[in-house]
Amino acid sequence: MIEIKKQYAKIDTLNNSLIIDFSKDAKLVYLGKKIADCDDYDFSGVRRAQTFSSADDIDALKRTVSSSGDGHCREGMIYLCDEDGNATVRLSCEGIEKGNKKPTLKGMPSSHGESECLTIKYGDKNFGVEVEQYFGFFDGSDVVATGVKIINQSGKTIKIKRAMSLQLDLPDGDYDVLTLDGASCRERRAVRRNVNGGTFSNSSVAGLSSNCHNPFIEVTKKGYNGFTVATNLVYSGNHKELFDIPSMGGARLLSGINDYLFDFPLKDGEEFQTPEAIFTVAANEEAASAEMRKFVSRNIIPERFIGRERPVLINSWESFLFNFDRGKLIETCKKAAEIGIEMFVLDDGWFGKRDNDLSSLGDWFENEKKLGGTLQDLADEIRGLGLKFGIWVEPEMISIDSDLYRAHPEYAMTISGVKPLEIRHQIVLDITKEEVRREILEKLYGIIERSKAYYLKWDCNRGIYELKNSGELFHKYVLGLYDMLSKLTAKFPDLLIESCASGGNRFDLGMLCYTPQIWASDDVDPRERTTIQEGTAKAYPPLTMGAHVGHIPNWHTFNGTSYDNAFAVACCGAFGYEFDVTKISEKDERTLKRQVEFYKKWRSVLQFGNYTVNENSEERGISSYTLADDKKEKAVATVIYLDRTINKLYPVVYIKGLLPEAKYSVRFTSDEEIKFTASGSALEKVGVYIGNLYTSERIADNYNSIQTVIMEIEKI
Ligand code: GLA
Repeated sequence: MIEIKKQYAKIDTLNNSLIIDFSKDAKLVYLGKKIADCDDYDFSGVRRAQTFSSADDIDALKRTVSSSGDGHCREGMIYLCDEDGNATVRLSCEGIEKGNKKPTLKGMPSSHGESECLTIKYGDKNFGVEVEQYFGFFDGSDVVATGVKIINQSGKTIKIKRAMSLQLDLPDGDYDVLTLDGASCRERRAVRRNVNGGTFSNSSVAGLSSNCHNPFIEVTKKGYNGFTVATNLVYSGNHKELFDIPSMGGARLLSGINDYLFDFPLKDGEEFQTPEAIFTVAANEEAASAEMRKFVSRNIIPERFIGRERPVLINSWESFLFNFDRGKLIETCKKAAEIGIEMFVLDDGWFGKRDNDLSSLGDWFENEKKLGGTLQDLADEIRGLGLKFGIWVEPEMISIDSDLYRAHPEYAMTISGVKPLEIRHQIVLDITKEEVRREILEKLYGIIERSKAYYLKWDCNRGIYELKNSGELFHKYVLGLYDMLSKLTAKFPDLLIESCASGGNRFDLGMLCYTPQIWASDDVDPRERTTIQEGTAKAYPPLTMGAHVGHIPNWHTFNGTSYDNAFAVACCGAFGYEFDVTKISEKDERTLKRQVEFYKKWRSVLQFGNYTVNENSEERGISSYTLADDKKEKAVATVIYLDRTINKLYPVVYIKGLLPEAKYSVRFTSDEEIKFTASGSALEKVGVYIGNLYTSERIADNYNSIQTVIMEIEKI
């Protein structure tokens, strides 16, 4: 609810208040827990010079925007420069507007479902620029969406050197900063450090949001009046988050497109829109994460996929890599159908002459010899066995050894006279060009139409390193990608798309606006996956993560474990299997059947339940969470021991996320003997003794394995 009094706009969200002073030097007066209305907030402002030099006062203000040459000495939000090299931009607030809708961001995805929007207008007549900043609010949520539009009115072309989406000037304090860092097969591990001075930077540079540093960031002010601010960016390219602690005091959080090589020209009369950033504030990290997860489920993933069940799938990649023929595929699908699996996904290797990763990207027509017929025939036969059909593509890439490259070398990103850098033996298509996008999309449309695919896996297995026209390249690439995804999803609105980038190299809110699930990592070793999924869940709900039971022992780590341990880790995500099920023993087949049956029975809780962290692995090497339906009547709680302890008692685990007063029946799926009843508050406060899981039966597969327990919880 937006209330305007004098020069103050006060917005109350579900639990919080945001107060903005929109006088000439617009300021962020307050962001935090809900407060009762006041007549004005004059008492809060900097009324007198704090120091001898009045210029220094600019740094004492909690500004809503900042620019180059405006007198502050912090990291700034918007840096512009005209043809003469003048970068002096002094933005002052010119007014605000209240409305119900956020602006539509041309060419970029953004959150949906807002109920109110506040727009603040700024300008600098001398430089000739206007800036419009919006704040979108959502019923039943504490998340706020924001972004800025820069309008050039200078009569000449200017260059944008930096355009951040979000600036939050926060109070003084001792801060911890949490980011999700990693690498391929080690994505999004939560890393926390204390930032007390200087500028902390979290960014990506290779054209994708990256597995090195996710755009999600949480800053936690410790001690008196402590809080956590979480922010994330609805963008899939190079991003940068800065947390700047100037010596004058205060703290500034910025998030937006990375200014690495960014030098974007804006002609007179043109506008530049930043991507959307979202942020929230809460009492602590976990509360802020919970609010962000809820927002992603309700306001980021496409509306038509909210509450839509995802089928249990089997993917061909870790089963066969490139080595399959029709016989193997059909045999797999028959076995999968017997197990109860609902969809078969034909991964890499089905097109061109692709029997390894040396060729054929761009040649999006089936290898009929390998498939033993057309794609349509194969898909029909698989559907005849009772499975849905899904297929893998990598539309942004081209192999030098491909018909497409031979016909159109100009479609690839190359620099004349420079040998293109081949990564995974492939180069990048220049999807900033309309004709390239059109050609690839037409081929994709054909594949989807002919195979009647239910599901598409959209992969992207390298970054951008041919840097022609570098000032615009990275951003235009992302706009090209979004153009393709928006056309594809408009044409096939029901197609379930899972995006992927060498595992989870592009796991972000921009992709989630088109593809409601993302392959979280190529590493499906349940020990590694526990840390990856736990980190990812700080920002994203579990159902956004593709999570499979893979080959045992694991292909990357060689860790062994049981199928039940692997299932316990994978079953909270968009679930599937990814190994050769035709080669398993009868006992293992019975195990898989039991798992699929359990998954189907609990699917609505596992897929749409609210995720509450009981314990993070960093505390005691135990990872545990509860997934509970909205009414908290049915829940599944999982406990994962990452390490075996010797001569140390196994502790109790506190099960959260339930109704304190309600009574529940609790049953361990792995051990039917263990069942009991307890109130929600007892489960949370007294806890459940799990005991030693490293029994001789359980560790038969591997002494070093993780051990898991799943609890089925029902309100009595
Ligand atoms: C990437 C993906 C894998 C698989 C392969 C196919 O590595 O992350 O899941 O699809 O490509 O080449």
